[in-house]
Amino acid sequence: MDHHPRIASDRVLNVTILPTAQEASAAVAEKILSAVRANPAAVLGLATGQTPRRVYAALLDAVAAGEISFADATTFNLDEYCGLPASHADSFAAYMYRELFGKADFRPARINLIDGAAADNEVEAARYARLLAEHPIDLQLLGIGTNGHIGFNEPGALPAGRVQTVKLSEETLLANQPTLIELKQVPAHAITMGIGDILAAREIVILATGPAKAEAVRRSLQETPDNACPASHLSTHSNVHWFLDEAAAGLLQR
Ligand code: F6R
Repeated sequence: MDHHPRIASDRVLNVTILPTAQEASAAVAEKILSAVRANPAAVLGLATGQTPRRVYAALLDAVAAGEISFADATTFNLDEYCGLPASHADSFAAYMYRELFGKADFRPARINLIDGAAADNEVEAARYARLLAEHPIDLQLLGIGTNGHIGFNEPGALPAGRVQTVKLSEETLLANQPTLIELKQVPAHAITMGIGDILAAREIVILATGPAKAEAVRRSLQETPDNACPASHLSTHSNVHWFLDEAAAGLLQR
């Protein structure tokens, strides 16, 4: 595996570039598996979207092969669309059960999801923030938006931000439109863990694949941290590992 440590501000960043999305996803899955092997009761922060699908498939292969159990792991998802109950096909909760939870031995009592259909979003955000405070995340998995968002922390989000309701950017609405199953339109709002919650994780693993992510990856890795590119704040964390395919790494100065 090809490791490319880079210097961003005063830190060495861990960047692994692999030829294909499949290989980058397998490497990310291996990070998660080794974290859970080392600590079966690990607290995992999980993401949805197109990017982690191959990672979750690889985790399920390991489960099917009897190599790992997630029975003692605790999970927290990054975000959820407002207005959607977990039973809605387009909710991130439903995605997680389709892609991972429903096919492995995760215990429902240890799965933490944001309730998109909560009567009061502020009360729901506070409930989730309390749970996070009680269960510090050991390993946080992230994808990245074409605009550099992490979770649904859109450009302009503050690095100290905590769980909150946000309005999705036009770019995110457009990017997520093709992923809809039943809805005609992407919900305008979401509840997301804040950048501060993400940076509180002990370890962060971020996966970016495909040419559409190349500019956001370049800004995050090779420009000074700036609120205009939320993922650039990751370079202030002492234990973050980027996994890229060649396409997502295409604009990096090497
Ligand atoms: C998903 C999330 C988002 C995605 C990002 C990339 O829970 O928080 O930040 O990681 O929008 O999405 P994909 O992987 O679909 O390109």
